[in-house]
Amino acid sequence: MAIQHFLTLADLSPADLSTIVHRAIELKKQPDLAKKFDRYTLGLVFEKSSTRTRVAFEVAMNQLGGSSVFLTTADSQLGRGEPVEDSARVLSRMLDCIAIRTFEHGKLVKFAEYSKVPLINALSDDFHPCQLLADMQTYIEHRGNIAGKRVAWVGDGNNMCHSYINAAAAFDFELVIACPAGFDPASHLVEANSDRVSIVRDPIAGVTGVDLVVTDVWASMGQEAQQRKREDAFAGFEVNTELMSNANSNALFMHCLPAHRGEEVSAEVLDHKGSVVWDEAENRMHSQKALLEHLLSC
Ligand code: CP
Ligand code: NVA
Repeated sequence: MAIQHFLTLADLSPADLSTIVHRAIELKKQPDLAKKFDRYTLGLVFEKSSTRTRVAFEVAMNQLGGSSVFLTTADSQLGRGEPVEDSARVLSRMLDCIAIRTFEHGKLVKFAEYSKVPLINALSDDFHPCQLLADMQTYIEHRGNIAGKRVAWVGDGNNMCHSYINAAAAFDFELVIACPAGFDPASHLVEANSDRVSIVRDPIAGVTGVDLVVTDVWASMGQEAQQRKREDAFAGFEVNTELMSNANSNALFMHCLPAHRGEEVSAEVLDHKGSVVWDEAENRMHSQKALLEHLLSC
């Protein structure tokens, strides 16, 4: 049977994604129900910084009875030019599952091709599927089923936005993307989901009548040199109390974090009761545990 990888949400069926998210909700309440994976080892290969994703995976693997090995490109042969396919062949002979955080999404695709064990995308320039498992869990915990709801993405058409497009298809919600011209998400993803995904240039139009407002940094990892240019381009796209007043009165606010208060989100919104960012961050651990359980059982 083919190895089950998780490079984007589209790698799993909507039914499997829903099972994982509901299992995460269950494991959060009853951690002892988790399957045991004694002597299993998860490899974490990170080319970019991380707080939540790394800790969530390490704690989750520990709670499943296994352990993890953390590698950066700086302290492994990956940083000295060992080909991805050779690294995949070697690492997957020792590890039971591998999560990689990298720049080029194509590197993950190539790694997966040569890996004998499940590969998880721990964030690439194009997608951040693990975050969406936590976001869907958080919405369901606070408001119930997200199917049929209206969600606004405000800001850059980046890796998170791409994963929101995939989530809209898998979890059956409508997604309005409010972004300035020049910062649209990949057109092939928008076109493939045009029945439920639309782009607007006015953030007020984007959030009007929505049940969930989501944003992310204006300059992602690897785009630090564009920070000033992006601050200019995204002027008027801050999610603040005034903007949120156009959403439904019980709308939730989410941000994958880390956040820049006073830039893409105001401190008031981030710390307001409609903000569920701390539950969202905690749910990274529960949902990644449910994901590991699923992939290691395939
Ligand atoms: N949201 C998220 O992926 O956070 P980290 O970069 O801290 O892992
Ligand atoms: N879009 C952000 C997400 C960080 C979790 C980045 O790629 O830096």
